[in-house]
Amino acid sequence: MTTEKKVRKGSENSALVGIVMGSDSDLQIMKEAASVLAQFDIPYEMTIASAHRSPERAADFAATASKRGIKVIIAGAGHAAHLAGVLAAHTSMPIIGVPIDSSCLHGLDSLLSTVQMPPGIPVATMAIGKSGARNAGIFATQILALCDPKLEEKLDQFKRDMAHTVEQKAKKLKDSY
Ligand code: RP5
Repeated sequence: MTTEKKVRKGSENSALVGIVMGSDSDLQIMKEAASVLAQFDIPYEMTIASAHRSPERAADFAATASKRGIKVIIAGAGHAAHLAGVLAAHTSMPIIGVPIDSSCLHGLDSLLSTVQMPPGIPVATMAIGKSGARNAGIFATQILALCDPKLEEKLDQFKRDMAHTVEQKAKKLKDSY
């Protein structure tokens, strides 16, 4: 299988995170995960595979990910979203699921399909849509930071920056009335 690479740093096979989505229509949402990884200088690869339309491609992506050096997979899909679960069935690495709000049920279908995994095959399921994709990028970074003190420090700074932004907003609000 050919996997489209989007590697921020290093050589062709240096991606640490694999981002998979069920369709190109999911890209606008899944870009949020990619932008977080880029912010933390984490190399990633990104591709499309569908649990229903291309089940062999999805299974192959997961089964070969470890050999490619991938440590974590982020999977986003909509409708009856089985992508994250199928990937989890074919690898022992952590799978982070992002339910996409692409159907008339606004992602509630994807959320339940992704989160309600049977015992033994977990998927770390994020919130629906862009927030979930962003959190998936952060969560993948947190997993990688367990073995990378510099990355852990970057995450600590990221939290301090967020707290600082809230302080600034609170001050601006106070000054406005
Ligand atoms: C799911 O079906 C995809 O993840 C996408 O969210 C949804 C619609 O796909 P397209 O019909 O736009 O290709 O499998």
